[in-house]
Amino acid sequence: MPTNNTMTESIKPLKTMTEWKLLEVHHEKIARRPLRDFFAADPERGEKLAIEAAGVYFDYSKHRVSEETIKLLADLAEASGLREKIEAMFTGEKINLTEGRAVLHTALRAPKNAAVVVDGENVVPHVHAVLERMAAFADKLRAAQWKGHTGKTIKNIVNIGIGGSDLGPVMAYEALKNYSPRWLTFRFVSNVDGTDFAEAVQGLDPEETLFIVASKTFTTQETMANAETARDWALKALKDKAAIARHFVAVSTNAAKVEDFGIDTANMFGFWDWVGGRYSMCSAIGLSTMIAIGPDNFRQLLAGAHEMDEHYRTAPFERNIPALMGLLGIWYNNFFGAQSVAVLPYEQYLKRFPAYLQQLAMESNGKRVTLDGRPVDYQTSQIYWGEPGTNGQHSFYQLIHQGTKLIPCDFIAFSRPAHKLGRHHDLLMANVFAQAEALAFGKTAEELKAEGVKDWLIPHKTFEGDRPSTTILLDELTPAALGRLVALYEHAVFTQGMIWQIGPFDQWGVELGKVLAGRIVPELEAKTEPDLKHDSSTNALIRRYRERR
Ligand code: F6P
Repeated sequence: MPTNNTMTESIKPLKTMTEWKLLEVHHEKIARRPLRDFFAADPERGEKLAIEAAGVYFDYSKHRVSEETIKLLADLAEASGLREKIEAMFTGEKINLTEGRAVLHTALRAPKNAAVVVDGENVVPHVHAVLERMAAFADKLRAAQWKGHTGKTIKNIVNIGIGGSDLGPVMAYEALKNYSPRWLTFRFVSNVDGTDFAEAVQGLDPEETLFIVASKTFTTQETMANAETARDWALKALKDKAAIARHFVAVSTNAAKVEDFGIDTANMFGFWDWVGGRYSMCSAIGLSTMIAIGPDNFRQLLAGAHEMDEHYRTAPFERNIPALMGLLGIWYNNFFGAQSVAVLPYEQYLKRFPAYLQQLAMESNGKRVTLDGRPVDYQTSQIYWGEPGTNGQHSFYQLIHQGTKLIPCDFIAFSRPAHKLGRHHDLLMANVFAQAEALAFGKTAEELKAEGVKDWLIPHKTFEGDRPSTTILLDELTPAALGRLVALYEHAVFTQGMIWQIGPFDQWGVELGKVLAGRIVPELEAKTEPDLKHDSSTNALIRRYRERR
């Protein structure tokens, strides 16, 4: 294990830390105190337990916490070395220990005059050089000046990628669709299931279509299979290998593999090993986003993220939005035993935000050993899930209100609508405020009785309340606002990883399945009956598939 690293500095096992034990004692004391009580005791709680910073209003008053809880959580963060670890990340220390890499998604949105040194080199000029090349390319496309092989204007952009090379870009495209020129069509292909490709190119003219092959490694099975199918699809119509140069560009860290595939490296936009896949939407992986919203808006997105980066780096933990979000997650996950977090955007354009967050949070913190290899004796990442409001209200909210599970919720909303349409926005906002209120305060048997509800119905109609939620309110869903939100969650995830003493930047857990699939492919494709050496279940499934396909 690498030494002399801020991450490995001797920190006591989490549950033996005084700060952890104090939280356990404190939890015993306040866990059963109703939110109604907290609010009654302090009429200003709703304003006191809210933070406004970096363009985000973060109301955490409807959490089962007192001011003392926040202090104790902040103490835990300090004692865990979070301050030093944030600094280590921002300054390019190789904090991704198992892969020996720096972690510098924050450098992707650093201003031109900043300096972040990795292996003796300032990476910021490289970041801006790529951004400028991306901007020149995006401007050409947006001005209808990028012509296909037969001279037709490119009107369709198809991003091929998976995981971080898909979820961030598709989420950002959907979120900011309203900023994109509608004569350009954007599609996203990720799944190795041929349906995904077939549907993505439905109705597209190959002469007017550009593929962005986005893959950090340029070896990912799904992306390579889709890229090869795209090449066949394009060449079938264009009938000339020279067409690749006008219809394919690549985003990758692996120039050699890009060349092997047949894409000219002049049409490649690079990034670096210090950008993790799920942290890459601010890098060249965001090329589709930049083409959709334009370089100036893309810079706004980066500026919004940078604003949140600076807030995270400098604000005291008790007033630090990402740190608090992470710590509140720990409070419920590790002290109340909550298993999941519902992310509920009251903005239809954010419909892919929960899916994007799933990779960010669960691929980062879904770990079972500490950085020095000890099995953890506490829970790590929560399960993230969610759907936009108000749709979710007519589906799974019943369980959040009256079910047996404790599910802390993140409500995300905007004061100004993307589309001013009659009363729609007031109705939407009334719902988000009402849901947080209902979850927190519920409805008592006494209140129901006073309303004349029959005795036998009272248990069914009672809402216990004390279901915690955060309301995250921004002014408007702009590129900068999206950047702020993304950085907020990135840093909340980092905060949790640091407290849990795990490594949030590797993903060894995805490897085994890839290796086994690689072994099974030739068995499925073999002309003669293969000699199967799996367990009896896998053998039988393979045989049945071969017989029946
Ligand atoms: O399999 C997981 C993963 O490595 C993710 O971490 C990553 O975002 C995704 O695959 C795609 O990887 P690449 O960009 O190298 O194709």
